[in-house]
Amino acid sequence: MNAGVWRALAGLLAIGVAALLVGFLWLPQVKPDFTGGGLWDAICRAAGVPSTWAPAVPREDAQASRVAAVFTPALAAGGDVGRGGTLALRCTMCHGARGVSTSDVPNLAGQYAEVTYKQLIDYQNGHRRHALMQGLAAGLSEQDIRDLAAFYAQLPRPSPAGPATAVPPLVNVGDPMRNIAPCASCHGGIDKKPGSPWLDGMSQAYLATQMQQFADGARRNDTLASMRNIARQMRPEEIEAVARYYATRAIVGRAEGGAEPAR
Ligand code: HEC
Ligand code: HEC
Repeated sequence: MNAGVWRALAGLLAIGVAALLVGFLWLPQVKPDFTGGGLWDAICRAAGVPSTWAPAVPREDAQASRVAAVFTPALAAGGDVGRGGTLALRCTMCHGARGVSTSDVPNLAGQYAEVTYKQLIDYQNGHRRHALMQGLAAGLSEQDIRDLAAFYAQLPRPSPAGPATAVPPLVNVGDPMRNIAPCASCHGGIDKKPGSPWLDGMSQAYLATQMQQFADGARRNDTLASMRNIARQMRPEEIEAVARYYATRAIVGRAEGGAEPAR
């Protein structure tokens, strides 16, 4: 190769090094919003590395439930069914003698122990608001709550309240465009996510009211806003349709039966 080519290559190299220095070291540091310290931060920034890897942690929501770490098998095992049955005598007036209510009060029979536990703790702490239930939960000890949860979990679930209606699309498909995951991916059918209540056979009015309250923020004890984010996206007629569906849904595979062992 002749000298001309060498000179051209050397020139290119020099320009390349200069460009790297300017682009990776100098420019990032003179940007007004550059807050990093040294050269390494400057290089990272120029290379497009985000300054924080995780999204900023939202400020503590005073209303948000803190019962997130209770979904352990030990919880369900920790309750004394017999003692729970005695304590439940205070609840029968509204929730029914066998945990199945004939009014619009939620059924407790066959409800997962971790759900009954979490809801009672949330009423106790005021994370879920309801004058009657907050007053009733206030007097319960942690052990009382475990025993009640264990007692209700083993009662047979209610039979469907009427003929099953057609399955609304949100139940098994959801709506990806609106970021609505299928109900069945958490509430059973496709998958059962810990903390998601058993809904089948609950009163239609109760189910619709709860979704409405998640939508308008009156109920905000759902950990990570999992239900609020969904309910906000739902149209009123969709809320009615899924509430009717779950209220009347035939219990697949059995006429009636106790809860599956809590996972
Ligand atoms: C005076 C009527 C009444 C009595 C007595 C009562 N409850 Fe309730 N309970 C309700 C109503 C109404 C709701 C729904 C409240 C709401 O909308 O948040 C409810 C909700 C609940 C829930 C939440 C259920 C769910 O699916 O989210 C649990 C758990 C519960 N009650 C347990 C109990 C236990 C345990 C007792 C007895 C110690 C009891 N309740 C006594 C009326 C009553
Ligand atoms: C990502 C999981 C997830 C999906 C998807 C989901 N839910 Fe939920 N849902 C939950 C959890 C968790 C709770 C309990 C929140 C709490 O701790 O209070 C809940 C609570 C509820 C309640 C209140 C029940 C009660 O007894 O108080 C209703 C009603 C409900 N969901 C309906 C639905 C419907 C209808 C859909 C589909 C349109 C749906 N959910 C989709 C996780 C989910």
